[in-house]
Amino acid sequence: MDTNPVPTPKARVSPVALRQRKGGVPIVCLTAYSAPMARLIDNAVDLVLVGDSLGMVVYGFETTVPVTLEMMIRHGAAVARGARHACVILDLPFGTYQETPVQAYRNAAHALAETGVAGVKIEGGEIMAETIRFLVERGIPVLGHIGLQPQSANTVTTGGFRAQGKSDEDQARILADARAVAAAGAFAVVVEGVTESLARVVTDAIEIPTIGIGASAHCDGQILVTDDVVGLFTDFKPRFVKRYAELAPTIAQAAEEYAEDVRQRRFPGPEHTYGGKK
Ligand code: KIV
Repeated sequence: MDTNPVPTPKARVSPVALRQRKGGVPIVCLTAYSAPMARLIDNAVDLVLVGDSLGMVVYGFETTVPVTLEMMIRHGAAVARGARHACVILDLPFGTYQETPVQAYRNAAHALAETGVAGVKIEGGEIMAETIRFLVERGIPVLGHIGLQPQSANTVTTGGFRAQGKSDEDQARILADARAVAAAGAFAVVVEGVTESLARVVTDAIEIPTIGIGASAHCDGQILVTDDVVGLFTDFKPRFVKRYAELAPTIAQAAEEYAEDVRQRRFPGPEHTYGGKK
């Protein structure tokens, strides 16, 4: 009988373990940008993504394009300190991997060394396949990202925050992207903002797990932005988001109550005062 009262920590989830989950129990993923949030969600999820969505959610930018590697490294290190069980993956931000595979490798290796995360996510299908292969063959696990690609929101092919894959041409392109990313060695691929039928076709066509966001239930896993899930980010709510809590009004209300207590001299009380009554 095990008499040790200290609970055994859950083993850390690895990219290899996630790769093996194809077709099995759905892979659960959420984003985090800070150590406390990572700590809170760690037990519930398989993968924590330090998403460049932090540009919009935390920094108030209109897109993810202004996010820098330095920002990602600061937040990535914080998340890696907070999450003990989940696999932590960091987004390489716009402009830090698209030039050449060597540029991507340098920045990804620097990010891994500085943060302790397990791998990187990069946006792009066929066009990034060579880079994905270059990173994976040199020891850097890669999570792909196809369909709607927020870093390319300003361009024509994948442009805008619109659902992708509605035309035959789009569907063929996204399927080819999925195949290219899988063949290049990514351990899984995020499929964002595509129709249900295309999500099914892509998931059936490749041997690595698909992680859907706005891509229906026909994926091997799901990812959402935590701030959307808990109602902290309220600028807009995409159709694919389900809110499991409404924290924004709770925080605003707490601030109002605190302000009123301070103005009425109800706070701090003796119990909050050194040398005061317990
Ligand atoms: O940046 C991000 O948070 C993402 C996901 C939500 C997929 O890329």
